[in-house]
Amino acid sequence: MKTVLVTGSNGLLGQKLTDIYATKQDVKLIATGRGENRHPLKSGYTYEVMDITNRDQVFEVIGKHKPDCIIHGAAMTNVDACELDSEACQLQNVTATQNLVDAIADINCHFVFVSTDFIFDGTSGPYKEDDEPNPVSIYGQSKLDGERYVQSNCKRWAIARTVLVYGLVADMSRSNVVLWARESLANKKAINVVDDQFRSPTLAEDLAAGCLLIENQEAEGIFNISGKDQMSIYELVQRVANYFGLSIDTVSKIDSVSLNQPAKRPPITGFDLSKSNAELGYNPHSFDEGIRIIYEQYTNAKS
Ligand SMILES: NC(=O)c1ccc[n+]([C@@H]2O[C@H](COP(=O)([O-])OP(=O)(O)OC[C@H]3O[C@@H](n4cnc5c(N)ncnc54)[C@H](OP(=O)(O)O)[C@@H]3O)[C@@H](O)[C@H]2O)c1
Repeated sequence: MKTVLVTGSNGLLGQKLTDIYATKQDVKLIATGRGENRHPLKSGYTYEVMDITNRDQVFEVIGKHKPDCIIHGAAMTNVDACELDSEACQLQNVTATQNLVDAIADINCHFVFVSTDFIFDGTSGPYKEDDEPNPVSIYGQSKLDGERYVQSNCKRWAIARTVLVYGLVADMSRSNVVLWARESLANKKAINVVDDQFRSPTLAEDLAAGCLLIENQEAEGIFNISGKDQMSIYELVQRVANYFGLSIDTVSKIDSVSLNQPAKRPPITGFDLSKSNAELGYNPHSFDEGIRIIYEQYTNAKS
């Protein structure tokens, strides 16, 4: 039986991967995270505490399970926090990735690194896999450094790049752009939304499915794994408003400069999915389907 180890299993992607792998009879899942297991589903897999910045712990857990594949989704994902604390960002996104890669040096392991559109400067999206990276933030640079370490040091590797992931985590501890927009619109809350940042928002289940395709096919190389619709963040909110029949009158368009966030954002990203579609059979949901799925999950969780 194949052993798949997932890092960051308490996170959004990690929880979705756990949901899928826990039910698969042909894969033994080792879910790993920082501290206790916060996923309410506790059966169908093994959970190990693994802080990926702790090199000894990484070597111990990987040495114990000798995984056939690692899906490395754990990261410091708050872009502004990375900008404000570059040391922590370097440690969690680069050094930690090095720890994992070094730990599989003597194991025949397929390494899947989850990366981001923020490795690009956003001047010419949507991007293909072989477009030239040029990060504009410390987070983007750290993920690119992680990618490069993986490419230079793993025998068998894949990079799954994704964009603005939205989804529901089990304890609803994490904000979600679709539900945030719906709540704000329904409560007629005045919100400022940027209209000069374009993304292809990705349903967390689609990202997990893309990682699974890569793992299952033992695919190697870089793959774009995002949603298929590119839109501005303002348009995203507009689509949520249309879907729920809500007014957008309380939403003000602003530009990124006025928002004045610590980290610079790439203006236009989004991905060309032709390669992942042709080579992996990756076919994500439309954004409207994603809204429906999230809302169904939300209402089920509330009832
Ligand atoms: N979310 C997006 O919009 C987006 C966009 C592009 C790319 N990505 C990439 O996609 C991947 C998954 O993102 P996500 O949305 O699932 O992020 P997430 O919900 O923030 O999950 C990240 C997980 O990593 C864990 N982690 C951080 N440092 C760790 C450490 N030292 N040891 C062990 N675990 C650690 C976190 O643990 P705690 O729960 O304990 O904090 C968290 O559970 C990341 O690699 C990210 O860079 C995400």
